[in-house]
Amino acid sequence: MKLAIAITGASGVDLGKKFINYLPQGIEAHVVVSDNALTVESFENKKVTLHQNNNIAASISSGSFKIDATAIIPCSMNTLAKIACGISDNLATRVAAVALKEQKRLLLAPREMPFSAIALENMRKLASLGVIIAPPVIGYYSDSSTLEEMERFIIGKWYDALGIDNSLYKRWGTP
Ligand SMILES: Cc1cc2nc3c(=O)[nH]c(=O)nc-3n(C[C@H](O)[C@H](O)[C@H](O)COP(=O)(O)O)c2cc1C
Repeated sequence: MKLAIAITGASGVDLGKKFINYLPQGIEAHVVVSDNALTVESFENKKVTLHQNNNIAASISSGSFKIDATAIIPCSMNTLAKIACGISDNLATRVAAVALKEQKRLLLAPREMPFSAIALENMRKLASLGVIIAPPVIGYYSDSSTLEEMERFIIGKWYDALGIDNSLYKRWGTP
């Protein structure tokens, strides 16, 4: 599976980093690093292809590169609004636009609290186009007691939504 992951300037950048670091073998990961988000060292033990957010000519900018799924974690309200309006002025928003036009799986993890009516309207619009709107919300049924377990639950749910096998959290109804 070819996966594009963008990390934008919202609180929760660390969750995006962990999402990448927990990825199982066999996923070809292409990562877009926003200016203020991450350092290259954060991925030094993980095989990923790093792209600059201003490199609109990167491979993943074209539908012909055939990315299977795209995730933006966390997704700022700014990036959410651009995607909802069809603006692709950097690589993060471009990969989202490509996922939409190619009708591929697109997951956004909007991070804000509370959400404005504008943000909710943008989410509604994108959800109606099949985009998976999956903010980092914990499930209290998952027996998570530490922050790490809560994060594993959220990341596991994101993987589920993207079709990535995982056992990152305790599923309801399992021993
Ligand atoms: C400390 C800090 C925390 C922020 N947290 C959020 C946040 O949680 N959600 C959000 O939508 N924007 C947040 N912002 C604002 C975004 O970084 C800002 O809108 C930026 O333009 C987003 O650009 P991008 O979408 O290109 O990454 C935060 C900014 C700062 C400085």
